[in-house]
Amino acid sequence: MSQRPPFDWHSAQEYLEDLLPEEIHKLEQAGHAAPPTRPTIGPWVAQLVDVLIYALRPRRALEIGTSTGYSAIAMGRALQRVGGTLTTVEIDPQLAEAARQNISEAGLADVIEVVINDANEVIADLTESFGLILQDGNKDDYLKMLPRLVELLEPQGLLVTDDVLFPVMQIPEEAKRWQYALGLYNEALQDHPGLQTVWLPIGDGVAVSVKLDR
Ligand SMILES: C[S@@+](CC[C@H](N)C(=O)[O-])C[C@H]1O[C@@H](n2cnc3c(N)ncnc32)[C@H](O)[C@@H]1O
Repeated sequence: MSQRPPFDWHSAQEYLEDLLPEEIHKLEQAGHAAPPTRPTIGPWVAQLVDVLIYALRPRRALEIGTSTGYSAIAMGRALQRVGGTLTTVEIDPQLAEAARQNISEAGLADVIEVVINDANEVIADLTESFGLILQDGNKDDYLKMLPRLVELLEPQGLLVTDDVLFPVMQIPEEAKRWQYALGLYNEALQDHPGLQTVWLPIGDGVAVSVKLDR
């Protein structure tokens, strides 16, 4: 283990947060005349997917778990600039309707399609491939969905997975089983012969996996 100069993690977060663009912070206020919402990917991961979209310029992106549209709007803004589209899947009709409203208010209705259904069923029926996929749905489904999501990725496409630091985070008792689920999922990413993955300690932890061309 290399010796690195110590720094205070929270001060570093605050310092780096000030470097994020104003646009990303404004996402928090975007729409949200909404029912109780689930935690979002937050500004760090929003900024990360933006950068990845500008670099990769995917024609199509897919998101599992829309909630009220925070991450979809973040991705939609970047996709609009590069000429891509987003399909985002939400199982809860009330959240999905709120997302549609927020997306429309953000002027992104032409870029983002919200599909209201169980993502397990939706991904089984998809016929097109995607340059970028964001997995932020039910943590219990991450492992089960992995083979199909890799299949749906274009070669050199990116799978971005949120919440990968759950195994080492203090989370509420009712969500404890997700620590185990994410532990297994992280191992599956690590062992996957068709993926190369980096785990980043931003937000609740995010993994970026590239589909290898083999
Ligand atoms: C963490 S939230 C997503 C937050 C969103 N990505 C954001 O950053 O704004 C997870 C969402 O996945 C949805 N979800 C859970 N199981 C699902 C399933 N089987 N299919 C589609 N969506 C699902 C939940 O209803 C919830 O809204």
